[in-house]
Amino acid sequence: MNLNTLININKKKFDINFKNLLKDKLDKSSLSKAMYYGSMNGGKRIRPFLVMESAKIAKISLIDAFTIASSIECIHSYSLIHDDLPSMDNDDFRRGKLSTHKKFNEATAILAGDALHDLAFELISGNLISKNYRSKIKLINYLSSCIGHRGLALGQALDLEFENKKLSKNKILDMYLRKTGKLFEFSFSAPFILKNKNNNDIQFAKEFGMLFGLIFQVIDDLIDEIGTFKNIGKTPGKDVKQGKSTLLELIGEKQVIKLCKNKINTFEKKYKKKLNHNPLLINLLEFGLNRVI
Ligand code: IPE
Ligand code: IPE
Ligand code: MG
Ligand code: MG
Ligand code: MG
Repeated sequence: MNLNTLININKKKFDINFKNLLKDKLDKSSLSKAMYYGSMNGGKRIRPFLVMESAKIAKISLIDAFTIASSIECIHSYSLIHDDLPSMDNDDFRRGKLSTHKKFNEATAILAGDALHDLAFELISGNLISKNYRSKIKLINYLSSCIGHRGLALGQALDLEFENKKLSKNKILDMYLRKTGKLFEFSFSAPFILKNKNNNDIQFAKEFGMLFGLIFQVIDDLIDEIGTFKNIGKTPGKDVKQGKSTLLELIGEKQVIKLCKNKINTFEKKYKKKLNHNPLLINLLEFGLNRVI
């Protein structure tokens, strides 16, 4: 079975369970409705796929993996709701529909983002997930650091600060690793952390997730330039219009792809043995590089 099919099968399963989980947690308030709208509106669920693949390698239970994945999608959805706000990227569309602040209003969208962020922590600290409290605390601590003032939030702040500026390749790479890489790093390494794997294994999982995330953002930029609204469900051509500092803008498509390929090669060499045991992982990196939506 090819990766697209596997990802879609996983998305369907995830969406059914995630929908039930949200229905159980949320109520009829406008805030709950906006949270539901912003998180159940047709995401690709790539991060949950990474969690499930990592869960197989680290051998954690399905319910632990699902709870981690749900928590991650809550964080991811919060980040997108806020990313689309007028004070950030100002996008009226997301996943082919009105963005949350357009469907509801700005204040509700801000609060729905906040509350999804909090729901993520409710889930990952709650009793759906492992009773091994030591590794659970480690996991929660690590999630906080991946998304906070040194992680996703900083990445988003830098992305905005960098608009209409000429930045070095390394500065842009650093921004990508934070705004996108860190949540992918968490997605792939969380099962290893929960299972209390050794440091080498955890490091491998973190580096894999981070590399996948970097490639994912690079291709997101490319898709912004060449995609259509119908394909990508968000307004294309925005990065150039808004003067975003992207690697694509700095070094061009050919060099960007070359950079990603070099990084994959270096990773392959460094972790030859582990990758031989898990050949799907290299396919996954290549899938990330070749994706068109
Ligand atoms: C979009 O993420 C934002 C980035 C980090 C590039 P996705 O492309 O995973 O968004 P959805 O969840 O599928 O809509
Ligand atoms: C978003 O990057 C990264 C986040 C952490 C939300 P983009 O601003 O490029 O994402 P899109 O293109 O709006 O999905
Ligand atoms: Mg953005
Ligand atoms: Mg954006
Ligand atoms: Mg983008």
